[in-house]
Amino acid sequence: MFHIAIISSSVRLGRNSHRAALYFQKYLNENDLCTTELIDLNAMQYPLFDERLAYHPQPTKEMKDLSNRVMKADGVIIVTPEYNGGYPAALKNVIDLLYDEWFKKPIAIATASDGDFGGTQVIYSLLFSLWKIRAWVVPVRYPIPRVQEAFDEIGIPADKASQDKRTKVFINELFWCIEANNRMKDYQQ
Ligand SMILES: Cc1cc2nc3c(=O)[nH]c(=O)nc-3n(C[C@H](O)[C@H](O)[C@H](O)COP(=O)(O)O)c2cc1C
Repeated sequence: MFHIAIISSSVRLGRNSHRAALYFQKYLNENDLCTTELIDLNAMQYPLFDERLAYHPQPTKEMKDLSNRVMKADGVIIVTPEYNGGYPAALKNVIDLLYDEWFKKPIAIATASDGDFGGTQVIYSLLFSLWKIRAWVVPVRYPIPRVQEAFDEIGIPADKASQDKRTKVFINELFWCIEANNRMKDYQQ
């Protein structure tokens, strides 16, 4: 069984995109598709980036914990809000902290906004950063418009049937990439 880490990127007071992260975890668990863990950047409260983990003179337990959690995940789902067309500083903070951990890691991105467009613009900056760090971004989209209406505070979708239908496609693409990645492990340099 695969192990999936879901990164919830918003640390904003009263955040809404966290609802989608809770939903993905619930969906994967209730369908018994994989094991999961939630990496909630708000709960972790990582200090502002001051050096990469590999070169850090005083790495904290939380930094090492993040490294282990990303490393052991077969794939990652990033749930990100769109802030002024980009992704939150809290997410950049942890992307830059790690390096080898991201290498060829299958990552599926879900974007969220409180308006009609579902955070479609944040994808450009996040894609570029993840490509640059040599992660393997899964070519599947999951924009979530009006995220505050799409899910309640504990991640229950307003329209479960249609949300689950979209999620099935999203997760299938992620799992396909994980499977392909695993089969190629012997060929990786
Ligand atoms: C600093 C800031 C910038 C934002 N910029 C955008 C934006 O560019 N496009 C957009 O659709 N929504 C924008 N929003 C609204 C978010 O989509 C909204 O807060 C949504 O609930 C997702 O973020 P959250 O998880 O922090 O709640 C912005 C919100 C904040 C706090």
